[in-house]
Amino acid sequence: MIAIIGGGVCGLSIGWRLAQAGRAVTVLERGRAGAGASWAAAGMLAPQVEAEPSEEPLLALTQESRGLWADFAAEVEAASGISVGYRREGTLVVALDRDDVENLRHRYDYQTSLGLDLEWITGAEARRREPHLARGVGAAVFSALDHQVDNRLLCDALREAYLRAGGVLREHTAVLEILHGGGRVAGLRLADETLEAHTVIVAAGPWSRDIPGLPEALMPPVRPLKGQMLALQMARGAPLIDHVVWGPDIYLVPRGDGRLLIGATVEEMGFDEHITAGGMMELLRDAWAVLPGIYDLPVVETWVGFRPASRDDAPILGPTAMAGLIMATGHHRNGILLAPITARCVADCVLSGETPAAIRAFSLDRFIRREARSAWLPRP
Ligand code: FAD
Ligand code: GLY
Repeated sequence: MIAIIGGGVCGLSIGWRLAQAGRAVTVLERGRAGAGASWAAAGMLAPQVEAEPSEEPLLALTQESRGLWADFAAEVEAASGISVGYRREGTLVVALDRDDVENLRHRYDYQTSLGLDLEWITGAEARRREPHLARGVGAAVFSALDHQVDNRLLCDALREAYLRAGGVLREHTAVLEILHGGGRVAGLRLADETLEAHTVIVAAGPWSRDIPGLPEALMPPVRPLKGQMLALQMARGAPLIDHVVWGPDIYLVPRGDGRLLIGATVEEMGFDEHITAGGMMELLRDAWAVLPGIYDLPVVETWVGFRPASRDDAPILGPTAMAGLIMATGHHRNGILLAPITARCVADCVLSGETPAAIRAFSLDRFIRREARSAWLPRP
């Protein structure tokens, strides 16, 4: 039996691929599936505009996953009967004052030097494409390839597709301990039973480090990175924007149901769930500077989520030094974008016993000193 800890976008999509391949797979989820980081996200699929210096290996992975997205969305919709709200209008990054324009130009030069397909446009052209943008917009970058998906619908659809493929989902079932012996995983301890498993996939998002049982060296170095967000309701049939729009320190994501998501703070606050006045004030102030028309819109939702951030901000994927223990965690700010490639490559690890080239640079081993890795292995 294959056991997956965590029913977020990662656990569900990996489970779906394994169930499709005819494997006996169980997802253990301590709450409701899809209610963790995957519920809190903005659903941007934006490898280009989010590309950061020194993250080039990650960019290769995010771009490959982006390339899988259109087919992935169509497949999960067909398999579940649920629309996932995949939208291709693209993304605009706008600059307001002269400093912003210089920063944007600097980013644009870096990103285009990597061969990314971006278009530099004037403020007037940006407002032609999005007439409600602030008059002060001085310049913008347009990325036709950075799309969006409704991550909450996606979780519903993945859950349904997984179940229809024959996967077992145990919600409200916390994993209390990972069991192992003789250098390989043996199963999981739950509240009232022990579950035998030859393969255990850790997909517990920002909680991945907190599951007891693993030797210190094999605990994935993942921490929660708090993000506050809010949603406004736009007039039905008259959205203020159609593209995803980024401004300085802010993004705005229009949804098909007329909601406008505004995000997100980035806070080292552990699992603090408070919505703060300062967080909301900054989001609204920065969003208003880009899109003044939000002023009269009703606030319909505020929420907090936790990005599963690893020590180098890249995901932790694939087999570990413990036989049968596989990681699928640490997706930080890109877990929705990375779902298709995570599902395909992690399922491949199980099905073929080989680690696909695309994820070899992202193994847990990169964080572990050789002595620590071998310290817990049984002596021959
Ligand atoms: P989760 O969705 O958190 O799933 C893990 C699950 O494991 C949870 O449901 C939890 O209940 C369960 N679990 C934990 N411990 C146990 C246990 N012991 N037993 C059983 N179950 C357990 N990504 C993008 O690609 N685009 C975006 O625009 C984007 N925006 C974001 C905005 C915000 C504010 C935040 C917070 C994140 C954003 N992200 C975005 C990142 C993305 O949400 C995550 O990278 C992704 O959802 C991680 O998915 P996951 O399945 O690993 O984790
Ligand atoms: N990727 C957007 C966020 O993490 O806020």
